[in-house]
Amino acid sequence: MKTIGIFFGTETGTTRLIAKRIHKKLGEQIASKPLNVNRISPAEFLAHDALILGTPSYGEGDIPGHSAGCIEPNWEEFLAKLDGPLDLRGKRVALFGLGAQERYSERFASSLFKLYELCRNAGAEIIGSWSTEGYTFKHSAAVVDGRFVGLVIDERTQGMHTNARLDAWLDEVQPLLMDRLEQVA
Ligand SMILES: Cc1cc2nc3c(=O)[nH]c(=O)nc-3n(C[C@H](O)[C@H](O)[C@H](O)COP(=O)(O)O)c2cc1C
Repeated sequence: MKTIGIFFGTETGTTRLIAKRIHKKLGEQIASKPLNVNRISPAEFLAHDALILGTPSYGEGDIPGHSAGCIEPNWEEFLAKLDGPLDLRGKRVALFGLGAQERYSERFASSLFKLYELCRNAGAEIIGSWSTEGYTFKHSAAVVDGRFVGLVIDERTQGMHTNARLDAWLDEVQPLLMDRLEQVA
């Protein structure tokens, strides 16, 4: 049985914890164990037709990695391992991003936009946009047409909302990701 692939980048482990919570909520029949992009091959990533991808925000809303000041390898280093341009045609992708809206109000969760742009340009079908209601920030590159391009989590100041946000978002994206898996089964 095919599963939803869950992949994430992280610097200090928070995005990993959220990926693990997503995995636990979906169950291992449905989703494969979340993997850090710093330890996977492009083939492992590309094996999935339905994906949940997560990223923290670092730099000026860059794709996280050494250029954005990260010490650990992150999305930037994973992408550098690809032989050619990323090809996600035929894949359905839901995105989540972490950020800190008080400290980084001018560029809240902005790296999420970079991941979105990358997937969009690679031909993926992106699902799971998320309302900005309940967050307080000045600017986020991750807002497109008035909504976040994926689920946004702020563990620093709004951890009390994370569980309900994960549940509501997964209620939306899980059936769509499962549909995609059934189509290719
Ligand atoms: C040096 C540094 C830069 C950051 N830059 C941003 C930023 O631009 N926007 C934002 O929303 N959060 C920013 N954050 C907050 C992190 O994205 C947030 O704490 C996230 O949960 C970290 O995830 P991780 O533990 O998976 O690395 C920054 C944090 C640090 C330490």
